[in-house]
Amino acid sequence: MEILIYPAAQVVARAAAEMIGLSAQRGATLGLATGATPLLTYQELIASYRRGELSFAQSKAFLLDEYVGLAPNHPQSYHQTIREVFTSHIDIDDSAVHSPDGAAERPWEQAQEYEQLIIDAGGIDLQLLGLGTNGHIAFNEPATSLSSTTRIETLHPQTVADNARYFSSVAEVPTHAITQGLGTILRSGHALLLATGKAKAEAVERLVEGPLSASCPASVLQLHPHATIIVDEAAAAGLANLDYYRYVQTHRPDWQGADGLPRLV
Ligand code: GLP
Repeated sequence: MEILIYPAAQVVARAAAEMIGLSAQRGATLGLATGATPLLTYQELIASYRRGELSFAQSKAFLLDEYVGLAPNHPQSYHQTIREVFTSHIDIDDSAVHSPDGAAERPWEQAQEYEQLIIDAGGIDLQLLGLGTNGHIAFNEPATSLSSTTRIETLHPQTVADNARYFSSVAEVPTHAITQGLGTILRSGHALLLATGKAKAEAVERLVEGPLSASCPASVLQLHPHATIIVDEAAAAGLANLDYYRYVQTHRPDWQGADGLPRLV
């Protein structure tokens, strides 16, 4: 895994936006995440688009997950959220922004159809990820099969509590979600996980240095052939090998630019 540590969330966002921008320029299929962490990255991308530096016209996008029971037009649905915070502000075609239908009559079939939709689109080139405080990615909670595909997940009470800030009460937070599986995420060409703030420090430590374990679903990224973890100082604080990761970052060879990754300073 590539671990990149930056002094603040804004710099994390710039680094992530640079990587996503390079993919978008090649018409990549993007995997998008909701949650607070990627918001600054989306703002950076929107700003680049408005400056005329970027176009998403050739890209498709797939969301990681959706709450079961929320229709696409529900204000708290991820379908609606991603449009509000990102895709309605850039030149991606709205019909190219996909997410599971949380109000589908048969959520299980919906999950399987979504998995197939991703496969039929040729897979996800770059998957953006946030990190739950309990180590979840997308909505894959502890004990998720490391090779799971898109399915229904029961949200951990910790996740429900964390996400209650978007609803008027905890009771309104759906208890289930349709989520891409860990196996789905492993099939992406490049997994780009962002984590900022000290509340994520323990999960980052478990993801990067803990054992590969379904108890920390994000640790599955240790199996991904191309995973980049971008964190700020606060989220990196628990890493035992922090000095080594910094050393690698400052000795990043120039030739890494050849595979499309930006050279970061
Ligand atoms: C939700 C989403 C995840 C996201 C996580 C962390 O549970 N399903 O995709 O990574 O929240 O969110 P935040 O970035 O707000 O901490």
